[in-house]
Amino acid sequence: MTALEQPTLNVSLPVVIRIATEEDLPRLEWYGQYIHYRNLFRRAYHDQQLGTRLMLVADCNGFPVGHVFILFIDDEQGRKQAYLYSLRVMEMFHSQGIGTHLLMEAEAHVLAKGYHRMTIAAAKTNHVARRLYERLGYEVFMDDRGEWSYTDHLGKVIEVKEPCWLLQKTISMR
Ligand SMILES: CC(C)(COP(=O)(O)OP(=O)(O)OC[C@H]1O[C@@H](n2cnc3c(N)ncnc32)[C@H](O)[C@@H]1OP(=O)(O)O)[C@@H](O)C(=O)NCCC(=O)NCCS
Repeated sequence: MTALEQPTLNVSLPVVIRIATEEDLPRLEWYGQYIHYRNLFRRAYHDQQLGTRLMLVADCNGFPVGHVFILFIDDEQGRKQAYLYSLRVMEMFHSQGIGTHLLMEAEAHVLAKGYHRMTIAAAKTNHVARRLYERLGYEVFMDDRGEWSYTDHLGKVIEVKEPCWLLQKTISMR
């Protein structure tokens, strides 16, 4: 090795998809990057305990390096629909298949709960996410203004405006 060559160590790490626990909540903030979503994470966890949401994490050595949440919706007409949201993988773990794995596990959980219709949103500027969803069989069925709000960790209401595509997929037992 010359002085100019950088020593390289190739590391392979196991990543397990599992349901989030209470201990994951502070770690989902990714050391402050998503501290503003603290209340959203807590609410999702609360709803998970009630059975109306599910939080899946991609666990690498005990740390949630990715996640996807599922909201189970039963409307007045008796239609059952699973809304997938908050799909996110830490940047240094991108393009390793973790996002795909999270969505596939989400699908299995949705089916196991007796739901068959899944919806997911991709910001119109987010071509990577849309390509990933379409590769997994989701199809765009409408667009949406993407307007919503949340209360951050300081109690401030944050308004979000992010026009998005809504994609849908119907799944059944093989
Ligand atoms: C969108 C997002 C979740 C995808 O996560 P990811 O773990 O990188 O997804 P995957 O690795 O499964 O797939 C991404 C690409 O890597 C490729 N890939 C998958 N496994 C791979 C591997 N082992 N080696 C090389 N490439 C691989 C996939 O084919 C895919 O290619 P494509 O972009 O042409 O479809 C991630 O980019 C992210 O967190 N973005 C920021 C948040 C976000 O935008 N979330 C979506 C909200 S709408």
